[in-house]
Amino acid sequence: MEMSVKKGDLREEKCDVLVVNEFEGVKEPGGATGAVNKALAGLLTKMEKEEGFTAERGSALMIRLNGELPAKRVLVVGLGKRKAFDEEAVREAAAVSYKAAKRVNAKRVVSILHGAGAGKMDPAKAAKAMAEGVRLGAYEFVKYKKSEKKGKPPVSFDIVTDDARAYGAALKGLELGERFAAATVFARDLGNEPSHRVTPEELVRVAREIARKNKFVRVRVFDKTQLKRMGAEAFLGIAQGSDHDPFLVHLVYKPPRAKKRVALVGKAVTFDSGGLQIKPWDGMKTMKIDMAGAAAVLGVFSALAALKPNVEVHGVFAACENMPSGKAIKPGDVVRAMNKTTIEVLHTDAEGRVTLADALVYANKLKPAFIVDLATLTGACVAALGEEISGLMSNDKGLRGKLLESARHAGESLWELPLESRYKKLIKSDVADLKNVAGHYGGAITAGLFLQEFVGATPWAHIDIAGPSYAERPLNAYTPVGASGVGVRLLLEFLRTF
Ligand code: BES
Ligand code: ZN
Ligand code: ZN
Repeated sequence: MEMSVKKGDLREEKCDVLVVNEFEGVKEPGGATGAVNKALAGLLTKMEKEEGFTAERGSALMIRLNGELPAKRVLVVGLGKRKAFDEEAVREAAAVSYKAAKRVNAKRVVSILHGAGAGKMDPAKAAKAMAEGVRLGAYEFVKYKKSEKKGKPPVSFDIVTDDARAYGAALKGLELGERFAAATVFARDLGNEPSHRVTPEELVRVAREIARKNKFVRVRVFDKTQLKRMGAEAFLGIAQGSDHDPFLVHLVYKPPRAKKRVALVGKAVTFDSGGLQIKPWDGMKTMKIDMAGAAAVLGVFSALAALKPNVEVHGVFAACENMPSGKAIKPGDVVRAMNKTTIEVLHTDAEGRVTLADALVYANKLKPAFIVDLATLTGACVAALGEEISGLMSNDKGLRGKLLESARHAGESLWELPLESRYKKLIKSDVADLKNVAGHYGGAITAGLFLQEFVGATPWAHIDIAGPSYAERPLNAYTPVGASGVGVRLLLEFLRTF
């Protein structure tokens, strides 16, 4: 399906579905929707009343026409309350309109630029959010299904505006939104693939493929022998139970004149069985998603060539499987991370922080201005914030602010948890420097404090994405069941601020 921005008058567009919009509580629509309503002699407002349509966020009303306009149907989508209107409302409206159009087998869809009129939104932002809503709302992971008979997607989805000034900005916004969405889809695909396909070696292949396609991206891969020499005993300890070899992957994006350097670190456990302290079936069934942090980093790198942010970006992940076997790490084993800190592994299912210890030490050696790590780290974070909100922990005020702001624009939910230093006593070990489990409570925070031991004084933020990484039910109109690609748009937005 092609998406584009065109100059024109909605009333004159020949299409199968013409999408207009309305705010909640507005009696007489204005702007382009008002013009369409007038051309239809008030049919829209009349039908809305009859059908009890209130323009609530996420709602839509399809009206079949009978030759009054070149369009076959008009779809009115609800934007909700004007006061609460934001980019997220646009994403949802766009996704809802795409799905409604597909349901009636529309070939050509023409849509109003949501929010650019009465919503007073910057047209570039509006068009970006529309591209994201449509592309992510259209996403399906059906490659392993024999048939998928849910109708063909439309051939084209055109955003039409009669505002000459908005046109240029909308064009740029659309392109940006397409890139953000494609990068998110990249991460979703990696997360949805089962763990016997996305193995550590497969993540290496994907990283190499990205570097091959982009002359500004290089990749270095460290295998078991090299990692042993480097002293990455913590990572290797977790990996040793699996038949799949572990790899540490380091991607570099280096634009010609970048001033700042940022390191992005992702948890890359391609399957988390829990190890010898094996998970119950219910806790294990979606654990192919335990590499979502690395998937987000790879998604970001897949888009850097086109987005060309003016910042040097390093992507680091330590890819392995967490499996029980005769070779597996055992509760009570002590491993030494690359910075010489020793870890008593008391729980083999708290493996993520142990693998991340070495990945963070590696990233910190690159002397970045900031480190941001993304990890499906703790069930405790899901207990604290629920399935839709990621937890943010940081040692740097400026970085924290930037990330919260980026998340808001990206349509990702992020909430800060405190890195309370008095809880450090909970991860002190009797036999080593640290232990990898704390008490019953505050598990997201103690995991964050554990990671902090490996970043030195570098400004760093840890984002626990255990909740939103995998949607067990559709989260909104553009996030279906499965891997969500969480973190990709947040990080791309963050990199854009440099
Ligand atoms: N990968 C899990 C965390 C997780 C939970 C991710 C739910 C996605 C959804 C992590 O490795 C884990 O098992 N954590 C344990 C830690 C505990 C043993 C201290 C947990 O949260 O239960
Ligand atoms: Zn685990
Ligand atoms: Zn895990």
